[in-house]
Amino acid sequence: MNTTRRAFLKTSSAAVLGFPAIVRGANLNSNLQIAAVGCSNKGLSDIKEVGSHARVHYVGFCDVDTSRFDKADETFPGVPHFQDFREMFAKLSDTFDAVTVSTPDHMHAYISLEAMRRGKHVYCQKPLSHTVWEARQMRLQAAKSKVVTHMGNQIHSAKEYRTAVKLVRDGVIGKVKAVHSWQSNPGNKYSHLTAPPAPGPVPASLNWDWWIGVAPYREYAPDVYHPFKWRDWQDFGAGTMGDFGCHIMDPVFTALELTAPVSIRAENEGLNPQTWPSAETISYVFPGTAWTTDKTLPLTWYDGGRQPDIALAQMPADVKLPGSGSLFIGEGGTLVLQHVGMPKLYPVEKFGTFEIKVVEGTSHYHAWVDAALAGTKTTDNFDYAGPLTEAVQLGNVATRLPGATLEWDAAALRITNKPEAETLLSGKYREGWGIEPVT
Ligand SMILES: NC(=O)c1ccc[n+]([C@@H]2O[C@H](COP(=O)([O-])OP(=O)(O)OC[C@H]3O[C@@H](n4cnc5c(N)ncnc54)[C@H](O)[C@@H]3O)[C@@H](O)[C@H]2O)c1
Repeated sequence: MNTTRRAFLKTSSAAVLGFPAIVRGANLNSNLQIAAVGCSNKGLSDIKEVGSHARVHYVGFCDVDTSRFDKADETFPGVPHFQDFREMFAKLSDTFDAVTVSTPDHMHAYISLEAMRRGKHVYCQKPLSHTVWEARQMRLQAAKSKVVTHMGNQIHSAKEYRTAVKLVRDGVIGKVKAVHSWQSNPGNKYSHLTAPPAPGPVPASLNWDWWIGVAPYREYAPDVYHPFKWRDWQDFGAGTMGDFGCHIMDPVFTALELTAPVSIRAENEGLNPQTWPSAETISYVFPGTAWTTDKTLPLTWYDGGRQPDIALAQMPADVKLPGSGSLFIGEGGTLVLQHVGMPKLYPVEKFGTFEIKVVEGTSHYHAWVDAALAGTKTTDNFDYAGPLTEAVQLGNVATRLPGATLEWDAAALRITNKPEAETLLSGKYREGWGIEPVT
């Protein structure tokens, strides 16, 4: 462990002892003081949306690339900049209550766990974590620290998904027999690279070592990792499943109150050790719930252009499945939910005159701020988002062992029938960047 890291941990644990779960937000006259990590692209939109709440005040912006503060500064001028979140946490210490985490996936758990250990509320982008094990640690730490947490799959709070959840819960299509979820994006030239390209000069504004963070070190190469393109690399992102699973499967989880799958099996177009497959099908079996017809529920995920058999949807011949979404097959009809679109009910003969009552959306971002200020829970807290992310990342474990049916024991955090799959539940951390299990 290097000195900086040791010093940070020392500061960190001292802070944990001194902080109640809600620090400044407990005072009703105060604002929620927030430190933001990751300031461009989705980070910028998180900063703007969270910051549009009247009682939010930013105390620090952190980005490993100093060229990426401009737009956040335009909206919130004068907020101090940091390039290393560890320095920001240590220096700002007790002046902030909450953190937004909008970095590439491989850093979500490390940063969020450090924040929660300090008693900070956390809004963390989807997927909550890069691995199954990390999702579990985040859920455990949130409970231990008693902080207010929220995953950044903002469509969870949108009218489209809320309306679909209500229709399923109202029993409009009866109990559900099966679900199919898909994302048709066929990827791009970056998602089809099979080896790291030749290194290139690191931009002066970027601290590449801190960008790499917990991941195994590799040289910077222009235009393939930072920004945005890290998604398809196994060391940093989670492919299409990780990018969209926590969005598209979210209304399925909420409507049917799904917990942990009992088994997962994947097939894909071919795999290499560097990037995620460009097309895959992942078959889950979940325990049945009060909303399902049977004791188990099959949920099948497709990506890279794959889709479920259109005949299952009972749609008219001239209607196509949306590019991405979910198909709920109920005993009394089907619900097709576009990502992101209003739910549609089929067959037309049965639902042609059915009036769908829209459930209005709410601000996902403000819901977290309000809950942090009030000390209440959100509907997308880590007790919910943790298991959803575990299921998503179990899909990525299965896709690395195509054709094998993996049996999952969620309570024990174990795949019980395939030892080589168990090693894929967690990542390998770079020296000095280890993540301690929550005890
Ligand atoms: N909810 C949504 O609809 C949605 C949409 C897009 C992205 N996302 C999620 O948001 C996250 C960011 O995605 P993106 O597309 O904005 O990525 P990006 O690479 O475009 O931006 C990430 C930003 O974080 C900075 N960064 C990287 N490592 C950092 C670190 N250790 N500390 C501080 N800053 C760091 C980068 O410099 C960059 O400015 C991902 O988890 C992604 O899955 C969510």
